[in-house]
Amino acid sequence: MEKLRVLIGRERIAAKVAEMGQRISQDFAGEPVVLIGVLKGATIFLADLARQITLDVSFDFIAVSSYGTAKQQSGEVKLVKDVDRSMEGRNIILVEDILDTGLTLTYIQSMLRAHQPKSLRIAALLDKVSRRTEPIHGDYVGFEIPDEFVVGYGLDFAERYRNLPDICVLESGPESE
Ligand code: IMP
Ligand code: MG
Repeated sequence: MEKLRVLIGRERIAAKVAEMGQRISQDFAGEPVVLIGVLKGATIFLADLARQITLDVSFDFIAVSSYGTAKQQSGEVKLVKDVDRSMEGRNIILVEDILDTGLTLTYIQSMLRAHQPKSLRIAALLDKVSRRTEPIHGDYVGFEIPDEFVVGYGLDFAERYRNLPDICVLESGPESE
């Protein structure tokens, strides 16, 4: 049975997300933005972040699949669901739960650049800086975390735990690294 340890509690998450929303609101003052959430992990973060942004906001979602086990990615990313509308001339904020190796967001970023948006920024709630293999960084980053597998607040382990209100470290599991 897995054990959960709270790494970042709900109050700290809420305060940080509010701060991120304020920064985005200031940076894009007077302009509309499109939040593009990466399914499914980013949904809870996107829902909270959007309500902290005082601009004209619209949503879109993309889904990718990456091959590998639940905890380890293989490095191959495949588009499963594209955006619904053209992003040409728009201010895009790509919303992701966590930046790990950076492979996922590097792939999505280059795909979205082909739309010729006005601007393209990345908002990631969590950042495992030490795991990065790609030269990519978040423009709005919530928390830098150590190389531990985390769940909750949208993040899953084999589709479980997304509904936990806190971000927790999954200490041991049936499939440990
Ligand atoms: P990257 O492509 O290696 O940056 O991986 C990003 C994706 O890996 C995220 O969208 C998550 O789905 C998943 N991921 C990476 N680290 C964790 C974690 O600690 N818990 C849950 N999912 C994770
Ligand atoms: Mg994800």
